[in-house]
Amino acid sequence: MALARSVAVKLINRSISAASIFSLEWAGARRVQAQRVRAFSALMSPPSKAVVYEREGPPDSVIKMIELPPVEVKENDVCVKMLAAPINPSDINRIEGVYPVRPKVPAVGGYEGVGEVYSVGSAVTRLAPGDWVIPSPPSSGTWQSYVVKDQSVWHKVSKDSPMEYAATIIVNPLTALRMLEDFTTLNSGDSIVQNGATSIVGQCIIQIARHRGIHSINIIRDRAGSDEAKEKLKGLGADEVFTESQLEVKNVKGLLANLPEPALGFNCVGGNSASKVLKFLSQGGTMVTYGGMSKKPITVSTSAFIFKVSPDIPVPSRCCYTRRILVRHGREMYSNVQKNLKPKA
Ligand SMILES: NC(=O)c1ccc[n+]([C@@H]2O[C@H](COP(=O)([O-])OP(=O)(O)OC[C@H]3O[C@@H](n4cnc5c(N)ncnc54)[C@H](OP(=O)(O)O)[C@@H]3O)[C@@H](O)[C@H]2O)c1
Repeated sequence: MALARSVAVKLINRSISAASIFSLEWAGARRVQAQRVRAFSALMSPPSKAVVYEREGPPDSVIKMIELPPVEVKENDVCVKMLAAPINPSDINRIEGVYPVRPKVPAVGGYEGVGEVYSVGSAVTRLAPGDWVIPSPPSSGTWQSYVVKDQSVWHKVSKDSPMEYAATIIVNPLTALRMLEDFTTLNSGDSIVQNGATSIVGQCIIQIARHRGIHSINIIRDRAGSDEAKEKLKGLGADEVFTESQLEVKNVKGLLANLPEPALGFNCVGGNSASKVLKFLSQGGTMVTYGGMSKKPITVSTSAFIFKVSPDIPVPSRCCYTRRILVRHGREMYSNVQKNLKPKA
């Protein structure tokens, strides 16, 4: 499975600003705790470089890199040296303070990633130094060089996985998988439509759909490089890719040639882009909204609202919040994804 994220950050070997700041309340608490524990020669983590924010706000102004002191690795804890962690849109939204579920500040950024076990507490038997692990379900605070958490947080992954795949396997690929499975029964030969198709979720939808013989109709925004983006998505298996401006026609379905009308659509943009997804949907189809990248309210045309409403689905739109599903089924789903979708050679 080809998966690219240009914004993945590698936290190792990242230099920290000369003015490392220890002003955080909890950093102080950790240091006091660390000093107390050292007296008993407890197992300690190395000091950790961390991307933190003490208050919510624009990431550019509220985040900073600091050095956190060592913490105790208790008997059930695992100390993980983080190798890579992505910057997902929801990470930015958490820092901005606009994401509904977010850690209390001060906080370390990041929610998923992959790391190598550095040391384990005395009661830990299922993980050993050198293993690669991901937090599953995802867990706050991956943007630091060493993370110490209870062993139940960590799920061992194969070291054969490319590092950037392992670091990003939970949030976006599993969202794509769940959305293709949980709202409508899709069979080989059916089709789906989505906007935000260049997103990682969008790219995963294209690939999983193709793997299952499902056609994908994809909408991207008009921007420099849109022709290259179209080619890239077609290379991943997209059947059709349209820019939003190409859909300013009376009969968008006339653009579909022989593809069947999709009964399922995905919207992660909002605004007028959502109405473009609705235009493609078959009567009674479902549009699943799982993001709002344009930060604009969803626009639904009157005709779509009247004529796309099915007797079974009172409104033509449902929402998806994958964290709930991940908490319950994340590890099982991760194994399925790993079994079914091999990285491209
Ligand atoms: N509900 C859930 O459980 C769940 C789980 C995972 C992700 N999500 C959501 O899914 C969405 C995609 O996540 P991702 O990590 O896959 O995204 P990503 O890889 O960072 O890609 C961002 C996408 O948004 C588009 N975009 C950015 N700004 C935009 C704007 N102002 N107007 C229109 N489009 C814009 C980009 O288009 P360009 O390529 O043209 O820049 C790109 O397609 C996000 O909203 C995220 O929060 C939700």
